[in-house]
Amino acid sequence: MRMYDLIVKKKHGEALTTEEIRSMVKGFTDGEIPDYQMAAMMMAVCFRGMNEAETLDLTLAMRDSGEVIDLAAIKGVKVDKHSTGGVGDKTSLALAPIMAALGVPVAKMSGRGLGHTGGTIDKLESFPGFTAELAKDAFVCNVNEIGMAIAAQTADLAPADKKLYALRDVTGTVDEISLIASSIMSKKLACGADAIVLDVKTGNGAFMKSVEDARKLARTMVSIGQLAGKHTAAVITDMDQPLGYAVGNSLEVIEAIETLTGNGPKDFKEVVFALGTLMLQAAGKARDEADARAQMERVIADGSAQKKLAAFVAAQGGDFAPVFNTDLFPKAGIKRNVPARQSGYVHRILAEQIGSACMALGGGRETKVSEIDLAVGIILQKKNADEVRRGETLAVIYGNDEEKVEAASKIVQAAYEIGQQPIKQRPVVIEYIN
Ligand code: URA
Repeated sequence: MRMYDLIVKKKHGEALTTEEIRSMVKGFTDGEIPDYQMAAMMMAVCFRGMNEAETLDLTLAMRDSGEVIDLAAIKGVKVDKHSTGGVGDKTSLALAPIMAALGVPVAKMSGRGLGHTGGTIDKLESFPGFTAELAKDAFVCNVNEIGMAIAAQTADLAPADKKLYALRDVTGTVDEISLIASSIMSKKLACGADAIVLDVKTGNGAFMKSVEDARKLARTMVSIGQLAGKHTAAVITDMDQPLGYAVGNSLEVIEAIETLTGNGPKDFKEVVFALGTLMLQAAGKARDEADARAQMERVIADGSAQKKLAAFVAAQGGDFAPVFNTDLFPKAGIKRNVPARQSGYVHRILAEQIGSACMALGGGRETKVSEIDLAVGIILQKKNADEVRRGETLAVIYGNDEEKVEAASKIVQAAYEIGQQPIKQRPVVIEYIN
């Protein structure tokens, strides 16, 4: 079959067969199909879409382009969690130890951050000595012994998606829902878990700006997971402002630890508990939401979730002392308050801008090889719907360089939209899809 014919077929809105999709993905991964033909195909998909069967075929072809990890050596129902990415999203840092404390094994592959959202592994590297480069045997052994392990994604995980995503990124073809869904799910399915729980973010700081698009993406991913034989559920959560108060690597780890000791922000805890409920249900360990929440409260109150985090950090080479004394994390040298320019109510906090301010401080990665400063970041003092008076502090910047702090302060101040009318904050957990 010729790629030219497949492009024309899709241009006319016809559905591609399983064989055509598998051959196209293989040809592209092997370098036989050039970028310009694949780019034309991606653009045709953007205009014509793909049906459910095509979306599943594309996902499975990309999953099978590399290693599909076998987690059979791990006892119990392995539940993986994925977030579509947001600012201040430190959910895995609190959720994984809570699940591990409740006997749900967490075997997680994670990426590093690029751009305005931070990666879980970067955040974990706030613990001196922590490594996410784990051999397969150590990964399996840690999950069996401690209940959790988080490893860096290997290069051989869905290589077809890696190549295709790089092409979509430079050809204006990222934001098509079936392409996003197949890209995310190909990697999740390659990770080998028995069940998948998805956190689909919506709002100004998310890929999906509207709830309607987030719902479509969530439904498409849930359908792919189910058709691939995995229990899959999703929750749509708010990203019209950063999650919690802390943005920046070690600051976010501290907020996650505070949540594990019962002192975390309400919105962050709500997202952790929503995902935790779905994970406990997927693992067959909770009767209903009330039961799931009671179990999660219990492992927070008795300290076992916090101890799990410490055991996990130690098993991956890290110094776990900061889990019990967060003052031990390295501190930024400069602290600067960002004042409100007018009185009123916070209507919106442009989350992407807060992420950019963190990058400006040196806390995020501009390129894959950038070094990041783990201590810098922003602690929000005001969130959506809060009343604020002129001159009152909106956020506190933590930095290590005067010029960068100055630049970040301006970005943070501009990220706050303050209006005269009081507003009602929308709930952080917007909808469940399962
Ligand atoms: N994240 C992915 O992994 N793939 C996409 O296509 C978009 C976001």
